[in-house]
Amino acid sequence: MNRKIHQLCMLLAATITTLWWPRTCLIITAVDADPQINLLNRGCSQYNVTNASEFYTNLNATFSDLRTQLMENSSHFATAQQVRGSNPVYAMVQCRNYLSAADCVACFTAAVSQIRNCSAANGGRVIYDGCFLRYESAGFYDQTTLPGNVGLCGNITASQVTSFTAAAGSLLVDLQLATPKINGFFAATRNEVVSSGGSGNVTVYAVAQCAETVSKIGCQDCLNVAYNNLQSCLPDTDGRAVDAGCFLRYSSTAFFSDNQTMNIAPFLKGGGNSRKKGIIIGVAVGGGGLLLIVGFLLYFKLSRKPMADHRGDILGATELQGPVNYKYKDLKSATKNFSEENKLGEGGFGDVYKGTLNNGKIVAVKKLAILQSDRAKANFLNEVTLISNVHHRNLIRLLGCCSKGPELLLIYEYMANSSLDRFIFGPRKGSLNWKQRTDIIIGTARGLAYLHEEFHVCIIHRDIKTSNILLDDSFQPRIADFGLARLLPDDKTHLSTRFAGTLGYTAPEYAIHGQLSEKADTYSYGVVVLEIISGQRSSEVKSDAMGEFLLEKAWKLYENGLHVELVDATLDPNDYKPEDVKKIIEIALMCTQSSPALRPTMSEIVVLLKGTSYLENRSLTRPVFIDSDKRVQGDTSTSTGSSTSNATASTSQLSGR
Ligand SMILES: *[C@@H]1O[C@H](CO)[C@@H](O)[C@H](O)[C@H]1NC(C)=O
Ligand SMILES: *[C@@H]1O[C@H](CO)[C@@H](O)[C@H](O)[C@H]1NC(C)=O
Ligand SMILES: *[C@@H]1O[C@H](CO)[C@@H](O)[C@H](O)[C@H]1NC(C)=O
Ligand SMILES: *[C@@H]1O[C@H](CO)[C@@H](O)[C@H](O)[C@H]1NC(C)=O
Ligand SMILES: *[C@@H]1O[C@H](CO)[C@@H](O)[C@H](O)[C@H]1NC(C)=O
Ligand SMILES: *[C@@H]1O[C@H](CO)[C@@H](O)[C@H](O)[C@H]1NC(C)=O
Ligand SMILES: *[C@@H]1O[C@H](CO)[C@@H](O)[C@H](O)[C@H]1NC(C)=O
Ligand SMILES: *[C@@H]1O[C@H](CO)[C@@H](O)[C@H](O)[C@H]1NC(C)=O
Repeated sequence: MNRKIHQLCMLLAATITTLWWPRTCLIITAVDADPQINLLNRGCSQYNVTNASEFYTNLNATFSDLRTQLMENSSHFATAQQVRGSNPVYAMVQCRNYLSAADCVACFTAAVSQIRNCSAANGGRVIYDGCFLRYESAGFYDQTTLPGNVGLCGNITASQVTSFTAAAGSLLVDLQLATPKINGFFAATRNEVVSSGGSGNVTVYAVAQCAETVSKIGCQDCLNVAYNNLQSCLPDTDGRAVDAGCFLRYSSTAFFSDNQTMNIAPFLKGGGNSRKKGIIIGVAVGGGGLLLIVGFLLYFKLSRKPMADHRGDILGATELQGPVNYKYKDLKSATKNFSEENKLGEGGFGDVYKGTLNNGKIVAVKKLAILQSDRAKANFLNEVTLISNVHHRNLIRLLGCCSKGPELLLIYEYMANSSLDRFIFGPRKGSLNWKQRTDIIIGTARGLAYLHEEFHVCIIHRDIKTSNILLDDSFQPRIADFGLARLLPDDKTHLSTRFAGTLGYTAPEYAIHGQLSEKADTYSYGVVVLEIISGQRSSEVKSDAMGEFLLEKAWKLYENGLHVELVDATLDPNDYKPEDVKKIIEIALMCTQSSPALRPTMSEIVVLLKGTSYLENRSLTRPVFIDSDKRVQGDTSTSTGSSTSNATASTSQLSGR
């Protein structure tokens, strides 16, 4: 994984090199000049710029300040900030000290052009071999080690495994120890690997560097983490460790000229434990037998695996990639000019069409029915960036968008099996067995738990219902339409919540008072679970039943211990165990309690669903039953436009219960 990324980065870097290279420099320093624009890590964060023109003005001023500092004083480190207004920019650049002043500026120039890809993100970073550039909307100069720190290993194993590991290992230990004590927090050094088999001597080169604005202790901490990350690269011939406040790199190929090496011995005196540990590792490996080597190799293999997983996020802000932009005319032809025949449905936010792209890929294209003001467009791009970064197997992937045509369009992955409502109430009613239904119940809970608790921004769906839960080829659930409610204009959100939610699924505190929390989704989820189990719509009164809405009916059956009577008659009774039915119905009723505080969080629900305990000790409180619901529902079926007044009218009746 790392290697692939690495190779990709090399490729990217090679492309960039050809782009930026200043011709005048070519003639003068063609041989030595190397700004080392090999891309190691990049990312953008925080897409919440509120005033783009102000932001870009600040960003440009900051970059030009950094450039002046690098050029006029030939320095290798600079910070600059523009804090006026509501979109402040703080920035930092650092070149490896072995670069010439010209190479440093060249590396910075490349980094600026790369980081501008973040466009209106108010955070971004680029880490090259030669330099590092970062900006954020708040100060970060003292940051040292952050989640996402990572070791990037080479792809060639050193020929003399033991001696190379020993030599490189002790070199890195020395650097880790000495660098925080050196003025400017930079050290470059090398170590000879003495060949035992006559295959030629090898030299290991290494550098360590901390941001000049961190403390000595901070530098130590950061390099300590970096050292641990690099250990798992050995015995590869190359390794780099990147983090917010420091950089550590070694290679068997010289990447700085010999006259840059420093004598770090004076800084190692009184070095204490780390130094001893280094020597011990060195000696043990150098003198050890085959067993030790095997052990080491095993250790490297094992310890390397998890590294691939914590990529990105190195500078604390979660990495967001921009959405893919599709061309309007491509989407128009993919959907046969948004023809009726390609229409998949009408969602709360606009119509959805099936589209076949030029490459044969089938997608779902949603035409957003929101105002196209500049403000709405800016919001749109921010939200779309956010949504397109949501990756979870129970959530529909947003593939990209199109904001350059007459309508705002969203492009989603296409689900051939359509939505859950068709399988529960619709044309294919009764075709899902018990196992499939419980899988859908658990998967939906997982998807919501991710949106609420695991994604770096809490996304409340606000409109969970069976028609928003799509099914993939193996009937696993994929929640659709999340994040879109945030696109509604600010001044409309409170009122429009009654539109955004669908009566019958909407939590009472949200429907009536507009009080929104993730527990509103918990409520809707509980209603959906009851629908899945019973095959009855929450808004429908069954003539054969007790003449009540689903929620009220479920509650009464629960109170009388008759849970099993709620189960869809199309299900085979041999398919499910009564105690499982009981558990799931009780979980659903926990979700629909009238007090949001009493409802469990979605991650708790996942645990409850998967657990074997039967919740006997949990006493449930009664849900709110909306008497007027019958009337409201009756009205909405004839005219959706009038539902606002009906919902408002029902308020007084509801609060009386
Ligand atoms: C190692 O990576 C370099 C570039 O990163 C590439 O040119 C080379 O082909 C790779 N070697 C192997 C054995 O994968
Ligand atoms: C954006 O900021 C600039 C000042 O940098 C100000 O003149 C302008 O009015 C602001 N625009 C908005 C929409 O706030
Ligand atoms: C900032 O700099 C970029 C690139 O030089 C330029 O395209 C853009 O217009 C500038 N923006 C402002 C607000 O100065
Ligand atoms: C260059 O260094 C001097 C002395 O340290 C300092 O006063 C000056 O502000 C620096 N110039 C720039 C452009 O940072
Ligand atoms: C953007 O969001 C981040 C984190 O949510 C916050 O720290 C920052 O101040 C925000 N920036 C602006 C310009 O609103
Ligand atoms: C980012 O910027 C660089 C340099 O300006 C450019 O070559 C590259 O294609 C852009 N896009 C990405 C995804 O890096
Ligand atoms: C390797 O280094 C050792 C000790 O520095 C030296 O004696 C030997 O001649 C070197 N071998 C080669 C092939 O350079
Ligand atoms: C270091 O060596 C390089 C060539 O390898 C040379 O261009 C440079 O001037 C040298 N620097 C010093 C300070 O001697």
